[in-house]
Amino acid sequence: MHTLYYFSGTGNSMHVAIELAKRTNGKAKAMLSEQDKSLSGEVGLIFPVYMNGLPKPVEAFIKQADFSKVTYLYAVSTHGGVPGKPEHYLKHLLEKHHQIALDDYHAIEMINNTPKGVAPKFLMHLDWEKEITAEKRHEMLARELTAIDEIADAVNHRSMGFKEALVMGTNKISWTDKLMWHIESSPKLVFEVDDSCIGCGICEEVCLSNRVKRSDRPEWADTACYYCYACFNFCPQQAIYVKHYEKKMGRYHHPNMTKEAIASQKL
Ligand SMILES: Cc1cc2nc3c(=O)[nH]c(=O)nc-3n(C[C@H](O)[C@H](O)[C@H](O)COP(=O)(O)O)c2cc1C
Ligand code: SF4
Ligand code: SF4
Repeated sequence: MHTLYYFSGTGNSMHVAIELAKRTNGKAKAMLSEQDKSLSGEVGLIFPVYMNGLPKPVEAFIKQADFSKVTYLYAVSTHGGVPGKPEHYLKHLLEKHHQIALDDYHAIEMINNTPKGVAPKFLMHLDWEKEITAEKRHEMLARELTAIDEIADAVNHRSMGFKEALVMGTNKISWTDKLMWHIESSPKLVFEVDDSCIGCGICEEVCLSNRVKRSDRPEWADTACYYCYACFNFCPQQAIYVKHYEKKMGRYHHPNMTKEAIASQKL
């Protein structure tokens, strides 16, 4: 049995999980809605890189899951050009909570789903406005599919790349990594909505943490946010904005992934 567990705010990681499942005779399942946390057989963990590390819901899934029947464990991250070291954090969590090692790890560069200005500039070095042109999306999709083919080959051959790299001593967690993970868990994400809101409810539908509550216009409850940027990116009016960000700069979600697909991750 091969199962690929994913978390995805704007579809990049979900698309990778679905395409990889097709090529590896596996089944893609959403981490957020998976009731059975007793994992077994070959397992893949697919997620976006958040501030060099792991999204909180991914961390929560890893802590809660039972890995005792897992025979092969790999992970795939998607990122926007700054891959960070989520695999090291993953390794740390797996060892601490489950005494299990990661066998292989892969990272795929995709389009960044967060606008410049939200994160420190040195992290988000890509120009989002240029990134999300039709041409760039096409180019990125072709690159993504090539990367998925390569990863499928590694998974089908039960590659042990991460374990081997550890033996070579190349995987170390630095103080900057620890700092970034701390920053990721600290900021309070403030969204606002402008007058172009048409009250369609999509932001509420796609909000993976159920933080968005809509009466007339959306409101963001003072509860946990997953920082997934689904509300921001799926708004058809581009009415949702964050500090330092101009409306004209556009929005991004994976071209093959719909709002219904994102919302389907919720229970
Ligand atoms: C809160 C947040 C932090 C992010 N941090 C990074 C980062 O450190 N490095 C990077 O390259 N991309 C970063 N990104 C971009 C995403 O990793 C990238 O766009 C990913 O493919 C999105 O996956 P998804 O569509 O499955 O949600 C970040 C995105 C968000 C929302
Ligand atoms: S998705 Fe956009 S237009 Fe629709 S209710 Fe939310 S803010 Fe308004
Ligand atoms: S409020 Fe927006 S960024 Fe936060 S979890 Fe909901 S959809 Fe994601």
